[in-house]
Amino acid sequence: MRRANRRSSADGEGRAFSTPPRPGLSNTVMELRGVSKHYPGTPPVRALDEVTMSVAEGELVGIVGASGSGKSTLLNIIGTLDRPTSGQVLIEQTPVAELSDAGLAGLRSSRIGFVFQQFHLLEAATAVDNVATGLVYQGVRKGLRRSLAKEALEKVGLGHRLQHKPPKMSGGERQRVAIARAIVGDPAIVLADEPTGNLDSQTSAGIIDLLRRLNQDGSTIIIITHDPGLAASLPRRVTLTDGRVSDDNVSAPVVDEPASDKSPAWIRGTS
Ligand SMILES: Nc1ncnc2c1ncn2[C@@H]1O[C@H](COP(=O)(O)OP(=O)(O)O)[C@@H](O)[C@H]1O
Ligand SMILES: [Mg+2]
Repeated sequence: MRRANRRSSADGEGRAFSTPPRPGLSNTVMELRGVSKHYPGTPPVRALDEVTMSVAEGELVGIVGASGSGKSTLLNIIGTLDRPTSGQVLIEQTPVAELSDAGLAGLRSSRIGFVFQQFHLLEAATAVDNVATGLVYQGVRKGLRRSLAKEALEKVGLGHRLQHKPPKMSGGERQRVAIARAIVGDPAIVLADEPTGNLDSQTSAGIIDLLRRLNQDGSTIIIITHDPGLAASLPRRVTLTDGRVSDDNVSAPVVDEPASDKSPAWIRGTS
């Protein structure tokens, strides 16, 4: 399992915050219980309305729905960037409402990786430095931050762009840097809000392939998209309609993969 593969050198640095799943509980990495988010106004906006869902370790989930259906609000609440009006959010079985501000900041920086449509990179910093910033709040020393950043950039296919700065990179390369920054701390979950929204279709396909590969490698990933084709390629799709979960569909993704990758372990005889 992914957890057993964690780099011992990184753990040896003493991460400032870590919430391993409690023994005996399921491997649920994220759970929402009756989560609502209302914005005041006339009339008030029910951006989320009693959303209950969970995501298990190793899942690749698409959140789909029309513009304004509550997808970004949902992701911001899962990512603890925003608090619900009511209901509970649990990350690795920890109810986030019970954490102090410092505890919450620690959980967010060490257990959650973010990828946004607009990349949000530091324009004046190299790719390595952009990715290494993802580790600053975890108490990882500078030398190790840089070597882990390099490793993450190699993982996303940018081993040849380490010293490039974002203005010299294509959109697809910038999004790969952002993905490397999201995964460098080995988070429990990666949250991507319209990660291909600014990219052409071919570049988008490359980014989705990368996210799928990282998922096969053990990362738990939630991708928001309003692209039906992209959504259809994901193994689980949660549909939001007016702030409510109107569908939660687990099925074989519509992509061409080797059969051995699709069959469960008990069919392959490797369990
Ligand atoms: N800060 C805010 N204040 C008021 N209304 C908001 C705010 N953020 C989002 N909304 C409203 O909440 C609803 C859901 O928005 P959002 O989560 O951004 O949807 P999506 O990402 O699916 O397009 C929309 O009606 C939007 O206008
Ligand atoms: Mg949105």
